[in-house]
Amino acid sequence: KPDMPLAGKRVLVTAGPTREPLDPVRYLSNHSSGKQGFAIAKSMAELGADVTLVAGPVNLPSPLGVTRIDVETADEMLQATEAALPSDVFISVAAVADWRPAARADKKVKKAKLQGGLPPLELVENPDILKTLCQKTSDRPTLIIGFAAETNDVIEHAKAKRLRKGCDWIVANDVSGDVMGGDHNRMIIVTETGETEWPRLTKQESADKLAQSIADYFKA
Ligand code: C5P
Repeated sequence: KPDMPLAGKRVLVTAGPTREPLDPVRYLSNHSSGKQGFAIAKSMAELGADVTLVAGPVNLPSPLGVTRIDVETADEMLQATEAALPSDVFISVAAVADWRPAARADKKVKKAKLQGGLPPLELVENPDILKTLCQKTSDRPTLIIGFAAETNDVIEHAKAKRLRKGCDWIVANDVSGDVMGGDHNRMIIVTETGETEWPRLTKQESADKLAQSIADYFKA
């Protein structure tokens, strides 16, 4: 069907922040709203794709017809993402926390016990979900799209990130303005052959354009 160009295609999207607990009541996280990833999941489903959305903690309703898996930590996100393979497309929109506390206390850390001192905060690196999927020798999705939030030299940084991660496309986002948590953005799509800059649009309009580009990629 011409209006369902992604029918039969399996698509996996990560979205939102991850949350890395220090103890039962405290965590490290970031300001990602999940809006862009959810918008992309919706656009892909509207073109007929079978969409699985692995979501960190966000306050957003599930897009219609999308299978949603809620996770908290980067480790859980990696696990859920790998469990959802095989997939034709992987779109890594999540703002995965780069680090997590080395240890998670099973009881609340008490100020009184520290006797006026500060708690030690040792961090360890989280898995890179995008890179992990790019490096798979079996089950590697045909088209892997990473995101790059940049404030300066956007295209140069995005090109370098595409090669470093080993993904097929990078969507570069200029976050020097009001992108984080906002409803608009400006996407630049970096592929092996070059880059295409789109105008400032709503996140849903950008998502629709990205979904159409993916449909065109599979049609060609
Ligand atoms: O390295 P950086 O965080 O700038 O890369 C951003 C891209 O990598 C995004 O597509 C993001 O979803 C992905 N990423 C990931 N796992 C991480 C860090 C980033 O999947 N631990």
